[in-house]
Amino acid sequence: MKFFLDTADVNDIRELMPTGLVDGVTTNPSLIAKSGGDIRQVIQEICDMVDGPVSAEVTALDYDGMIKEAESFLPMGDNITIKVPLTPEGLRACKTLSDRGVMVNVTLCFSPGQALLAAKAGAAFISPFLGRLDDIGHDGMDLIGQIAEIYNNYPNFTTEILAASIRHPLHVIDAARIGADVVTLPPKVLHQLYKHPLTDKGIDMFMADWKSTGQSIL
Ligand code: G3P
Repeated sequence: MKFFLDTADVNDIRELMPTGLVDGVTTNPSLIAKSGGDIRQVIQEICDMVDGPVSAEVTALDYDGMIKEAESFLPMGDNITIKVPLTPEGLRACKTLSDRGVMVNVTLCFSPGQALLAAKAGAAFISPFLGRLDDIGHDGMDLIGQIAEIYNNYPNFTTEILAASIRHPLHVIDAARIGADVVTLPPKVLHQLYKHPLTDKGIDMFMADWKSTGQSIL
């Protein structure tokens, strides 16, 4: 499973790069706004910092505008990934861009039918927003399962399932159990994945017992 960071905060990304666990980054207009930075500067800095796919979302809603905005992002790096919304215009742009060899991340997916369309449009990634479905009392993880079931029926589909809108570690674990290819997680959730009280307690016990030996390894 690939871990993408779901943030436009370059400091959060920089802090986590040494873990070796960051396989890519996803951004969106809300995350760019939250960062307070200029979109072009932020995306360029992330592309320079991260080797894996970096999603930059277009803000145009029409095909021509999407293509123009996508083309303005492409020089930022070979890892740039164009994010388009799951609309007829967005999927038309996805088909055009993917036919040119551009990685496309189709976002705001909330149904298996939408995911089927994205795969047929040649998307590199489909982003089902499982957290937002949970937020309204639907079963977001069930969507991940349905998409995986459909995609597994068609070996010619190359679209990777990118589980998005992650709220907590259980979303990561359950998406991994289903077999999602990628999870894009807020930095906070990545930090949470490390933590378990018994690990902390076990370290304290080991250190106490080791101290009682009076020894040192070096
Ligand atoms: O990548 C999509 C993600 O940013 C959406 O998450 O928390 O706004 O539902 P959220």
